[in-house]
Amino acid sequence: SSRYGTACKVSLWDSDEPIPRTDLLQGVSGAHGILCLLSDRIDAEVINAAGPNLKVISTLSVGFDHLAVGEIKKRGVRVGYTPDVLTDATAELTVALLLATARRIPEGVEEVKNGGWSSWKPLWLCGYGLSGSTVGVIGLGRIGLAIARRLKPFGVKRLLYSGRTSKPQAAEVDGEFASLDRLVSESDFVVVSCSLTPETQGLCDKALFSKMKKTAVFVNTSRGAVVNQEDLHEALSSGRIAAAGLDVTTPEPLPTDHPLLKLKNCVILPHIGSATYSTRGIMAELCANNLLAGLTGSAMPSELAL
Ligand code: GLV
Ligand code: GLV
Repeated sequence: SSRYGTACKVSLWDSDEPIPRTDLLQGVSGAHGILCLLSDRIDAEVINAAGPNLKVISTLSVGFDHLAVGEIKKRGVRVGYTPDVLTDATAELTVALLLATARRIPEGVEEVKNGGWSSWKPLWLCGYGLSGSTVGVIGLGRIGLAIARRLKPFGVKRLLYSGRTSKPQAAEVDGEFASLDRLVSESDFVVVSCSLTPETQGLCDKALFSKMKKTAVFVNTSRGAVVNQEDLHEALSSGRIAAAGLDVTTPEPLPTDHPLLKLKNCVILPHIGSATYSTRGIMAELCANNLLAGLTGSAMPSELAL
């Protein structure tokens, strides 16, 4: 549909379902700005379809692996995104997923429903606790640090983190900079919170899982492609690691017959890290303001440095 606001003419895909590719390519033609979701792949084809008017792309996400940033930069197009405003919600969800996975909550809920709960048994549905544990955070950025802050009060003994460089803000959580190898071999909980880049694509693979403790719980709330899912499936089904909690997968949605969904020790959520009413509202506003600033050539509230 097409509407006229005071600031610009808006051509809107007015549906919760992803816009079909052909509609996207037609819809962006001649546009000065594009407001997109993380499920929209904005590549050279889309940018070409938009044409020379295009000044700004504003995404309703902190992640930007769906944007062809090299191509975008080359054309002098600016990019807005939504960091910070979703940090708390995503960190909360990560803690919830970690606890649900480690304490086998979905499995327990299922047993109550299916009659598997016959009596209180000493070792039934036992899992792993945070108290006295070592947590390793892969990627101590805004969200990684917020996760660490929330996990510490559970009695975490040591907090390791890995990444390109050590970070002064890690002091706040007594975080110790470690090599990825050391982090995965010493951690009881391995939490992935890095962004997806060529460097981190497929980072969590067979070699990495083989270095983890057999009792390790693996959690990923960043992007599915950071993990080699076949290798993860092998690690989970062979008992190489204890359990995994994923809020992100490849592809999304994950087909309902996917092998990972058959494993009791794998908890999968449908990419809901930032999904609180309040956070999504604030993200939407920020995303619109980024777009408007891009259209008028003024300073964006949150511009991605390309
Ligand atoms: C969510 O995954 C985001 O990138 O905002
Ligand atoms: C558990 O419910 C206990 O009383 O130990």
